[in-house]
Amino acid sequence: MFDEFSTEQKELIHILHQVQSDHGYIPPEAIGRIARHLKISESDIYGVLTFYKAFSLEPRGKHIVTICMGTACHVRGAPRILDEFSRQLKIEPGETSEDGQFTLETVNCVGACALGPIAIADGEYHGQLKTSGIDKIIETVSKNDDTTTILRRRDSSE
Ligand code: FES
Repeated sequence: MFDEFSTEQKELIHILHQVQSDHGYIPPEAIGRIARHLKISESDIYGVLTFYKAFSLEPRGKHIVTICMGTACHVRGAPRILDEFSRQLKIEPGETSEDGQFTLETVNCVGACALGPIAIADGEYHGQLKTSGIDKIIETVSKNDDTTTILRRRDSSE
C-alpha cells in the first residue's frame, strides 16, 4: 500500500490516520508536532490534508454519514437521499450537528456503483437506498459507539 509514496510520506499518512482516529479530526496543534517529528514543513502536511478528503481539520460528529454523489449514484437518486438525510439530521452537507452527534459528508464514488445510491453510516454501507429507509439508518447509527471507537475496533481486528 502507498508504494508510490516516499518513506516520509507513508509515515506522515500513517500518523495522520492515527491522530484522526484518536481525535476524530486533525487538531491544528498536532500539525506542528508532526512537522517537527518528521522534519518536514507544515505546508507539506497541509498539502496532504487538503488532497485527501479522508482527513478533516474540523471536529467531526460522533457519527459520520457519507453519501456517494458519483455519477452512477447520482442518476439513481443520490440527490434525493442527500436531501432527506440533510432534512432529518437538520444539517447541510459538510456540517456537523450542534449536539456533535452527526457529520454529513459527500464523496464521489466509493467503487460500488452497482449498489447505488449508497450511504455509508459509521463505516457501514447501505446500498440501493430509498428515502423511506433513512430514518431507520439514523436510528440504528445513533445507538452506535462513536465512529472513532468503531474504526479503532475495526483496525485492531484486521
Ligand atoms: S458512483 Fe456511487 S459507488 Fe460509484
